[in-house]
Amino acid sequence: MPNHLRKRLQQLSDELKYHDHRDYVLSDPEITDLEYDMLYKELERLERENPELVLPDSPTRRVGSDLENDFKSVVHNYPMLSLANTYNEEELFDFDRRVKEGLPQGEKIEYVVEYKIDGLSVSLRYQNCMLVTGATRGDGVTGEDVTANVKTIRSIPLSVDPAHFSDDIEENFEVRGEVYMEKAVFKRLNNERQRKGEKLFANPRNLASGTLKLLNPADTAKRPLQIFTYYYLSSTSSLKTQYENLRFLTKLGFRVNPNYTLCNSIQEVLDFCKELEEKRDNLSYEVDGVVIKVNSFRHQELLGSIAKSPRWACAFKFKAKQAKTRLNDITWQVGRTGAITPVAELEPVFLAGSTISSATLHNFDEITKKDIRRGDTVIIEKGGDVIPKVVSVVIEERVDDTKPETAPLTCPVCGSGVFRPENEAAYYCENGECAAQVKGRIEHFASRGAMDIEGLGTSIIDQFVDAGYLKTYADIYRLKNLERELKSIERFGEKSIDNLLNSIELSKTKPFHKVLFAIGIRYVGAGAAKNWLNILCLLTTCRKPALKR
Ligand code: IVH
Repeated sequence: MPNHLRKRLQQLSDELKYHDHRDYVLSDPEITDLEYDMLYKELERLERENPELVLPDSPTRRVGSDLENDFKSVVHNYPMLSLANTYNEEELFDFDRRVKEGLPQGEKIEYVVEYKIDGLSVSLRYQNCMLVTGATRGDGVTGEDVTANVKTIRSIPLSVDPAHFSDDIEENFEVRGEVYMEKAVFKRLNNERQRKGEKLFANPRNLASGTLKLLNPADTAKRPLQIFTYYYLSSTSSLKTQYENLRFLTKLGFRVNPNYTLCNSIQEVLDFCKELEEKRDNLSYEVDGVVIKVNSFRHQELLGSIAKSPRWACAFKFKAKQAKTRLNDITWQVGRTGAITPVAELEPVFLAGSTISSATLHNFDEITKKDIRRGDTVIIEKGGDVIPKVVSVVIEERVDDTKPETAPLTCPVCGSGVFRPENEAAYYCENGECAAQVKGRIEHFASRGAMDIEGLGTSIIDQFVDAGYLKTYADIYRLKNLERELKSIERFGEKSIDNLLNSIELSKTKPFHKVLFAIGIRYVGAGAAKNWLNILCLLTTCRKPALKR
């Protein structure tokens, strides 16, 4: 009997893997979701009844459901380098010149050109053809172990067919690629967050990164991620070029972006870059440029690396997308530190995949320098960054009755006085109890990188501060005393208050460095908070602190 069962389990697992590859890698499913689910459910049932027969790379192993601890560190086998950027034709030709100078004269140089996917790079380690570790880039030398989350990405094979390799050592290898989120998934998830009054993710890259670092892999599975792989690394590989490398990855079953090509000259590279730039808006994922790699691995070795980037590759960044629109108004917003920042309220305009209705103006000096006035026609730009900015004014289109902007004299939220510290560009509200500051501080305290209190988002904070329930961080932990009162408010369901109070309780288990970061001391970011504690522990106990990362 077990033999028959074993066979069926293997068969189901193979079949599901085949369909995962068809659907998630080739985007060409052969069976319906229902048929897939039936196979999956049968496998799940058989595994439940026979836990001793569960295969380590079974498709059901993709979604763990236990709450994991913070991530372990992984030291990369080979450092994960970054790329030098080029922004125009001239810089690209300079790159080509340096490559030629670094190689023996007369050698034929080929380049492979690929899209630069706007996501986050991961390293996937396979041992005996089984996926054992998935890690983020981290600082390039050490990354975070996100294996459980990586396994939720359906296009990443949990195992590969050993028949692709001629010897056993080759079955230990590493694959690198870019994890990203499809634009449509990003939109859907952000819409859901908006409905719940939660803080929106700025762009698909941030959301992909946040998702890959969620502590519970079951949550990661709910926010589908994708991957394009671009490297196969193995100490015994006989591959000689990047082009062969990409082909081999496809053969192994990895997902490779199809828009790559081999070029024989830098002019060909440039032409292809332009072609890829024109196609970028039609893609279902975001790209921020192209990557140009010397094709031959022998050449790559001869060229080597400087500091953190190889001499044999560079990125060609696409121009930031610009649009022209009317600046209807300038409003001044107050942040958690009291800094008063000008915001351009714009006539809504569609730019690079979204409608923009506001943009940052940074500070008062910036407004003066660019002579930006209410009613002006302005050029806005959306780069790789999150927040669109006003680049310049179209002076020819200025109407006569505009006036230069004046600096704020009072806080636009609470009316208190303002001050400008020496050597700083920002004006500050002098009232620490200003509602905007309180809201900003609590929002920061509850945010994901800090105390991570789910359900305590912008809109609920606004309401609780306005109602007087929240003035300080400590008030968050007193909310449970108001349970009845909160539940009687019509807008909030009982369930949502229960959930909120639960996540507030859960936040008490956060390590101390998160608390230190959460209370928002100036200059103490997430990284400094960790180091601070290390130093403190060393000073007080002379022992290495047993810090959870
Ligand atoms: S090659 C040294 N290829 O860009 C080689 N990187 O700035 C570096 N990226 O950290 C990796 N698409 O996260 C390579 N087709 C591609 C890429 C790519 C996106 C990212 C990757 C890397 C960053 C380098």
